[in-house]
Amino acid sequence: MTSAKIMYASLTGNTEEIANKVKQNLENSNIEVSMDEIDSGQPSDFDNFDIAIIATYTYGDGDLPDEAQDFYEELKDIDLSGKKFGVLGSGDTSYGESFCKAVELFEEAFKAAGAAKAASGVKVEFAPDTEEDEKNIKKFVEEIIK
Ligand SMILES: Cc1cc2nc3c(=O)[nH]c(=O)nc-3n(C[C@H](O)[C@H](O)[C@H](O)COP(=O)(O)O)c2cc1C
Repeated sequence: MTSAKIMYASLTGNTEEIANKVKQNLENSNIEVSMDEIDSGQPSDFDNFDIAIIATYTYGDGDLPDEAQDFYEELKDIDLSGKKFGVLGSGDTSYGESFCKAVELFEEAFKAAGAAKAASGVKVEFAPDTEEDEKNIKKFVEEIIK
């Protein structure tokens, strides 16, 4: 059975909602899912799964959440070659070019680890409560399990 691990960072719950929707979509496709907060695990936790997913909000001005910093630094240094990854995030478009910047930062870290991007990054304005968000998350999951 194909398996996926979701690690997420969420302060006020928006990114957690995204992560939950991803989990639901994966489970609907018979993927076994494990989900944890990013500061309760480490990148090597991805080792035992086929698919690695990170969901994160963006803080400061285009920065990673504080609680995701250690995970990010370690991710760049481990070997995840052959593993499929995808990243989603929540942010606020009023931050302009820094909107959901943490999504790109984590995509770069996964690439540095040798993992293969299997789905385009998804950026959500605050909570995933529009039809467009639902559609984008569904598409993300379809791509990543293909
Ligand atoms: C101090 C502060 C800084 C923020 N900086 C950014 C930013 O640079 N880019 C962005 O897209 N969103 C930024 N945001 C918005 C959050 O990412 C957004 O509210 C997100 O939905 C929070 O996710 P959460 O509910 O999972 O914690 C910032 C929010 C706060 C409070």
